Amino acid sequence: MIKIAPSILSADFGKLAAEVAEIRAAGADYVHVDVMDGLFVPNISIGIPVVKSLRGETDMFLDVHLMIDRPHRYVGAFCDAGADLVCFHVEADEPQDLLAAIDEVKGRGKKVALAVKPRTPASVLLPYADKLDMALVMTVEPGFGGQSFMADQLPKIRGLRALLDQMNPGCDLEVDGGIDPNTAPLVVDAGANVLVAGSAVFGRADRSAAVEALRMASAVRPNYDV
Ligand code: DX5
Ligand code: ZN
Repeated sequence: MIKIAPSILSADFGKLAAEVAEIRAAGADYVHVDVMDGLFVPNISIGIPVVKSLRGETDMFLDVHLMIDRPHRYVGAFCDAGADLVCFHVEADEPQDLLAAIDEVKGRGKKVALAVKPRTPASVLLPYADKLDMALVMTVEPGFGGQSFMADQLPKIRGLRALLDQMNPGCDLEVDGGIDPNTAPLVVDAGANVLVAGSAVFGRADRSAAVEALRMASAVRPNYDV
């Protein structure tokens, strides 16, 4: 079962509640919330108060993607604000702090994920793989929506799925960056089952058609010429 997770980074923040209501009506599975601190990535987006406000507005699953330096400092606050899943980057913290952050999120009854940037090998996730609810492979350099999908990440997705199948078969595998109806079949074929899409959903006026197009594309065989 493929899950569609529209990224509100491409939404209109001036009417965020209405935007989220639209993707809920469109049948999206998760709300993907991109948190950027201007240090780990060269952009600043939104943080804890927005997660809290969203929690008050929707019953949708809040998939919070932290692109912040030393995330162990803040994972508890994001849990308390109402995140259902907190994902942070393996590159952003020391191993012992990553482990502590994983424990903190799980201790608060929330799901936990680790993310890898495009130039980080999936093998760095090995020490944590059995503790995760989800792993995230970035298919663009994190920081901005609307970038082109990096097809060179497909072998990594495939390899990570194989590794997870051995160590933690129930672990979800999310992809984020440049996912649209052309690239969705490629990542699904490689083993991804949670698809983040920013511009492919919020860049279209008809959000139901956008989510449906991703769902349909996820069910077809890939065309490797895209
Ligand atoms: C990038 C973010 C993504 C981004 C995806 O740093 O993590 O979630 O919003 O946007 P699209 O789908 O437009 O590439
Ligand atoms: Zn993201």
